[in-house]
Amino acid sequence: MTQTTETPMVELKGVKKRFGDLEVLKGIDLSVDRGKIISIIGPSGSGKSTLLRSVNNLEVIDEGTILLDGVQVNRPDLKGLAYEKHINHIRQNMGMVFQHFNLFPHLSTLDNVTLAPRKLKGMKASDARALGMELLERVGLADKAQVYPSALSGGQKQRVAIARALAMRPKVMLFDEATSALDPELVEEVNLVMKGLAEEHMTMLIVTHEMTFARDVSDWAMFMDGGVVVEANTPEHLFSHPDQERTQHFLRKHLGAQA
Ligand SMILES: Nc1ncnc2c1ncn2[C@@H]1O[C@H](COP(=O)(O)OP(=O)(O)OP(=O)(O)O)[C@@H](O)[C@H]1O
Ligand SMILES: [Mg+2]
Repeated sequence: MTQTTETPMVELKGVKKRFGDLEVLKGIDLSVDRGKIISIIGPSGSGKSTLLRSVNNLEVIDEGTILLDGVQVNRPDLKGLAYEKHINHIRQNMGMVFQHFNLFPHLSTLDNVTLAPRKLKGMKASDARALGMELLERVGLADKAQVYPSALSGGQKQRVAIARALAMRPKVMLFDEATSALDPELVEEVNLVMKGLAEEHMTMLIVTHEMTFARDVSDWAMFMDGGVVVEANTPEHLFSHPDQERTQHFLRKHLGAQA
């Protein structure tokens, strides 16, 4: 995105992904510098979720390279235990928040947040508890620490999901339409947490249908369609006077619908 000698936090080079005969990502290049926020927008089926899932190696790409802080994420050369170890390392450095909160229903809010650091990092119970409380405080839910997910609103669940993702101290946060399953009045509380992370210079890749939020929060914006990056630019440029007709058409539809 900018000329720099620093290693990008996330870098994609010529990433291709097929599902059977359908090529969903057709050669994606993307570079996100440390502490920067990129919004990814585009019509349904354009490959946005597949792209994020590929970054996290939830999807195995067919061609190209994905790097996290200079370390190659996709490693077709690794097999068995070595591959598992590698993937665990990568996933520990990336927090992901999906559209549908997938909290563990049988665990309290606090235990949802502390599970990964306890199990994966072997963190002591007292340290994990302190970390969990700090993160719940940060998302405004310290008073819900002992409550089970079924007693939380959608926005609260999603904030716990963010705290849970942060518990591994990730280098990057990936958001896939984190607010699109929420009632409109609950969207803002989640957006505020995401804005807070932005202010703390968390590197973030955000897939969203909320154009206003994307314009406000991101350093760079990318419009995808049909598995390609149609255009990428500063949010001011992309949202206000996009160069490509496809982007103009998409934004007319979406900004129109939001107004
Ligand atoms: N596991 C899968 N198997 C087969 N096809 C898939 C799979 N996952 C996604 N696809 C297809 O890949 C294409 C891109 O899907 P993807 O979910 O990445 O789109 P998207 O941009 O996130 O869309 P939306 O805005 O609706 O979430 C779609 O045509 C979808 O049907
Ligand atoms: Mg999607």
